[in-house]
Amino acid sequence: MKILLVGASGTLGSAVAEALDARGHELVTVGRTGGDIRLDVADPEAVGRLYERVTGLDAVAVAGGDAVFKPLSELTADDFAATLRTKALSQLELVRQGARHLAPNGSFTLVSGVLTEEPVVAGAAASAANGAVEAFVRAAAIELAPQRVNAVSPTLLTESVEAYGAVFPGVEPVPAASVAAAYVRSVEGRHTGRVYRVGH
Ligand SMILES: NC(=O)c1ccc[n+]([C@@H]2O[C@H](COP(=O)([O-])OP(=O)(O)OC[C@H]3O[C@@H](n4cnc5c(N)ncnc54)[C@H](OP(=O)(O)O)[C@@H]3O)[C@@H](O)[C@H]2O)c1
Repeated sequence: MKILLVGASGTLGSAVAEALDARGHELVTVGRTGGDIRLDVADPEAVGRLYERVTGLDAVAVAGGDAVFKPLSELTADDFAATLRTKALSQLELVRQGARHLAPNGSFTLVSGVLTEEPVVAGAAASAANGAVEAFVRAAAIELAPQRVNAVSPTLLTESVEAYGAVFPGVEPVPAASVAAAYVRSVEGRHTGRVYRVGH
């Protein structure tokens, strides 16, 4: 399959790229600073340009997205807006615009995260964005068929313990390769409207 992978250079994305590549898929990688195509998927016009440029896609997979981590008392309206835009709206827009461009039986695989269900201190904006992604997946699935849409919800990655472990006390991490397997499951399987929780 020809698969657009957003965030292929990241901690999770590089494992997803490796897994999809090992399955013989053709990848077109996207990032703001690296990849085959460099643009910001949080900009809806850039998403439009992306789909004009890359044709013949069978699947879109997302392994990117930023969130602002701050105590609730310090989060600003701009922090919420930025987190919802970069983590949630970017993915919704990739589906909304992509539906016109993807193969009739194509699929979208989005990314949420453990914080939807297991909040941590300073993670309120990220939890809200993850919840938006998961609710959207359930809703969009009933309108997209025969195209499919799923989300992968990882817990803390083993590879990210050094960077984020302090925010997730007592949380058992999971290797990025295990999360990547859920992307393969979503892309190659027949499920739709599902949230694949990995490690939680
Ligand atoms: N790491 C974890 O433990 C963990 C746990 C649960 C959920 N998650 C979720 O998994 C996703 C990936 O996390 P990660 O730790 O792998 O992140 P990461 O290492 O920072 O990688 C993010 C990747 O996405 C790209 N990217 C980010 N924003 C983009 C944008 N607006 N437009 C285009 N490309 C963009 C980045 O490339 P450029 O910088 O070049 O744009 C990079 O390739 C995030 O949504 C995160 O919330 C991560």
